Amino acid sequence: MIVLGFESSCDETGVALVETRPGAAPRLLGEALHSQAEMHAEYGGVVPELASRDHIRRVLPLARQVLAESGRTLAEVDLVAYTRGPGLAGALLVGAGVAVALGAALGRPTFGVHHLEGHLLSPFLADPAPEFPFVALLVSGGHTQLMRVDAVGSYELLGETIDDAAGEAFDKSAKLLGLGYPGGPALSRLAEFGDATAFALPRPLLHSGDLDFSFAGLKTAVMTQQRKLGPNVCEQSRADLAASTQAAIVDVLSAKALRALKASGTKRLVVAGGVGANRRLRETLDAGAKKLGARVFYPPLALCTDNGAMIAMAAAMRLERGLAQGSTDGAFDVRPRWPLDEVSAAAS
Ligand code: KG4
Ligand code: ZN
Repeated sequence: MIVLGFESSCDETGVALVETRPGAAPRLLGEALHSQAEMHAEYGGVVPELASRDHIRRVLPLARQVLAESGRTLAEVDLVAYTRGPGLAGALLVGAGVAVALGAALGRPTFGVHHLEGHLLSPFLADPAPEFPFVALLVSGGHTQLMRVDAVGSYELLGETIDDAAGEAFDKSAKLLGLGYPGGPALSRLAEFGDATAFALPRPLLHSGDLDFSFAGLKTAVMTQQRKLGPNVCEQSRADLAASTQAAIVDVLSAKALRALKASGTKRLVVAGGVGANRRLRETLDAGAKKLGARVFYPPLALCTDNGAMIAMAAAMRLERGLAQGSTDGAFDVRPRWPLDEVSAAAS
């Protein structure tokens, strides 16, 4: 099955062509992405109206690029997938509208994917792919969740953030350090030169006994330290504060993820979402899992953040297992707010 996937839930327009083959690993035939980060940087965050307009400008040229680079034609597409939610309503409508129009023109079914399910299943595009069941740590700009995944569509929430997401903690701390938006990658680059023990920052809920997270207090602690350093802060102190912030976030994420892994009885931990690109997080989780005789699976680095491939992949996995059917009636909607448990068989 060849699936054309569209992602437009936030500030990245992603298009990809994925081929799934019975008994063999799926193949990414082509992929193109446009990040709007630079456009939104001026405003310090995503401006929804600008995001929608930019998706409109980018989506078809990106689709043409993917088809040209993969040497495939639209006639070869079996299914058109798009992100149905959660995300920004206007931005979602662009991808959904284009996907459903294309499906109607081609006489092919379309399917609306849950964005987080896309992230969760993105490690199946890596080699080796994980096997079910596994524990998943989903860490993006909008979500921080630990889940037990028994099968496609079977997701049990083990814990989640009660306030800011891990990506938000990175982004807000980066903003305080004058690193622009989105700050996660920039903060982790600056942290490479810093001393992670230089500032004593809190590890919220580390010993709470449950698997929930809280990052709002950390941001306040970073702000306090930043103020103490004053406006003429030297480069080394900025790097030290970046490293200390990263360590605080990574310590909590990894401690809880490893605790969940241990309690689950499985030997597989899957990490997905933008923060999964963080090198320190990967190193800490790999080392911790090794001690438990377990293994950590990641999506290919370029597919950690939002992309069309994970959307195509999730659609293919659902349809191939008969868990959902593509739609051919040309009707569609988007779900800006859409709890994952609504698409989870475990919840019903
Ligand atoms: O999954 P994603 O692309 O979008 C959402 O669905 O939210 O995640 C974006 C988030 C941002 O908060 C970004 O700062 C963070 O992932 N991020 C990182 C790194 N790369 C992306 N955070 C820490 N270290 C990184 N290397
Ligand atoms: Zn995402």
